[in-house]
Amino acid sequence: MPGTILVGSQWGDEGKGKVTDFLADKMDVVVRYQGGNNAGHTVVVGERTFKLHLAPSGIMYPHVTPVIGNGMVVDPGFLLAELAALEARGIATGKLLISANAHLIMPWHKEMDKLTERWLGRNRIGTTGRGIGPAYADKVGRLGIRVQDLLDPGILAKKAEAVLRERNPLLAKVYNRLPLDGEAIVEEYATYAEALRPRIADTSLFVWNALREGRQVLFEGAQATLLDVDHGTYPFVTSSSPVAGGALAGAGVGPGWIERVIGIVKAYTTRVGAGPFPTELEGAAGEALRAAGDEFGTTTGRARRCGWLDTVALRYAARVNGLTELFVTKLDVLSRLERVPVATAYRIDGELTEDWPMTQTELHHAEPVYELLEGWREDISGVTRLADLPRAARAYVDAIEKLGGVAVTAIGVGPGRDQTIAQQAGSAVAWRPPAQEATSREE
Ligand code: GDP
Ligand code: IMO
Ligand code: MG
Repeated sequence: MPGTILVGSQWGDEGKGKVTDFLADKMDVVVRYQGGNNAGHTVVVGERTFKLHLAPSGIMYPHVTPVIGNGMVVDPGFLLAELAALEARGIATGKLLISANAHLIMPWHKEMDKLTERWLGRNRIGTTGRGIGPAYADKVGRLGIRVQDLLDPGILAKKAEAVLRERNPLLAKVYNRLPLDGEAIVEEYATYAEALRPRIADTSLFVWNALREGRQVLFEGAQATLLDVDHGTYPFVTSSSPVAGGALAGAGVGPGWIERVIGIVKAYTTRVGAGPFPTELEGAAGEALRAAGDEFGTTTGRARRCGWLDTVALRYAARVNGLTELFVTKLDVLSRLERVPVATAYRIDGELTEDWPMTQTELHHAEPVYELLEGWREDISGVTRLADLPRAARAYVDAIEKLGGVAVTAIGVGPGRDQTIAQQAGSAVAWRPPAQEATSREE
């Protein structure tokens, strides 16, 4: 089966862009299945760094067809600017396809995102302000405007007018804002329609045909498990389904096509925005990890909250995604620590648990229980073979595998394509196949 799902196992920014780019060498199609330009995926090619927000990370390879799946929300002006910027840097973007069923981010979504955050005050989520939540809310509320509506100017105008009839009084009377000019918006979106028309496709059909022909398809998740609207730390989540199950609905494929579900796990933890984070480090320790890992948001530039690896969360991610393997990233960032703490359990109101808590209240009360692992002093950013890792670094990876209950099949030791430990550099082949017995912690 030629389908591979790649999903973040923490709160995002695990290195999905780098891993997608690394695997894309062997892929024919790379599909983004949810989210929008709230994502910031970094791809480093030689001396050049690319920060992708809407374009699937596979776009860096001319042989790959990148696909924006039906589960995404698309800001068309932003997309055109991103594609123009890539073209200006010599990246051909002509093959990118956009699902006719994906939803459009409209100006009122961006406006409402900012207004609701302001209105929430101290309880704000800390969104990226890109209109993601309001666009998904309208999708589910059946007031959304889809990419295919760009192809029919009459429908586009009618739908925009219908939404604004409800939205403008809300903006004016509740939020004290000026109403939005529907005609001007439709005119603006008509220009995007002209530019995007050739790319609009039935992408579910395209992906199905690719899978049937045995071509390799990678489903690139954005955000991550703990930001999932169902399985994450609700309400401090994004408004889509980054988990592996979301890849099926968000790309329009059935589960039978999926062979591998790769969880990306950063060797420590970061989070952008508000919400619970049991292993968060306050003060100087957090600052030190942030500086070592250069943890500043790819999309908003915000300082990321930093903390130690949480294997309670990792086991949870393994479960809800059905992970078949783990790709550990940023192991190099932990070099030079005396000891590396790893959370193995939580103490919640005096009770010890190894499982992700059922309620948000319990999660807020969770105090991590740490195991201290031996650190290593060597710079490992040039290591390309597992055997060349310092003994303690290898033991750290073994601990992730054991505590997570899923086989580790590759390790990132730097942002570059070649800074990856796998059996063959630059290949999607792992140094060992996912071990059956490693999928259950009890064994
Ligand atoms: P994404 O949102 O999951 O794609 O991750 P981001 O691109 O937002 O953040 C990950 C950051 O870590 C980027 O700056 C990457 O270039 C960088 N990165 C990815 N893998 C590694 C790694 O193994 N080591 C180091 N040092 N940096 C990495
Ligand atoms: P990638 O794909 C990290 C966070 C925001 C906020 C919450 C809701 O680069 O890993 P939204 O704008 O989606 O409504 O914000 O989700 N968030 C991310 N955090 N990485 C991301 O994407 C994120 N996308 C959204 O900070 O807390
Ligand atoms: Mg990111």
